[in-house]
Amino acid sequence: MNDKSELYAQTLKSIERLIDGENDLIAVMATAVCELHHAFDYFDWTGFYRVAAPGLLKIGPYQGGHGCLRISFDRGVCGAAARTQTTQIVSDVRNFPGHIACSSTTRSEIVAPVFDSKKNLIAVLDVDSDSLNAFDAADQENLEKLCRIIGERV
Ligand code: SME
Repeated sequence: MNDKSELYAQTLKSIERLIDGENDLIAVMATAVCELHHAFDYFDWTGFYRVAAPGLLKIGPYQGGHGCLRISFDRGVCGAAARTQTTQIVSDVRNFPGHIACSSTTRSEIVAPVFDSKKNLIAVLDVDSDSLNAFDAADQENLEKLCRIIGERV
């Protein structure tokens, strides 16, 4: 197991321990983004956008500089993840048409969908990095695993 996978294993285990027995979604999301953000030095913004209405995301718990409050499904990387219900990995945000730059320093991004126990989309998990091409298959696999851990509580 390489260093990144090992760190994910430790971090996800820590998150599961911290949220054990908790089914309040905001509390679970806040705990998850806190642990993720402080564990990975290339995570420069870590947060959830919740499905607030059909076709509309609203900001949820996050770590990092302020994020935009609302994102429609037809905008940005988060909108693409919500619209397609698939994880988006953007190696260079300057090449993503319609990227929403909450920070001018963001260079790469990953956004994973969160589904509830009935497979309804309830949120997306957005991670920005100031480093180019920061995210890979290991990030996708582990962030999707975390999204399943969280979503199954709803
Ligand atoms: N970059 C995201 C918007 C959210 S801010 O990064 C926190 C997007 O393009 O959807």
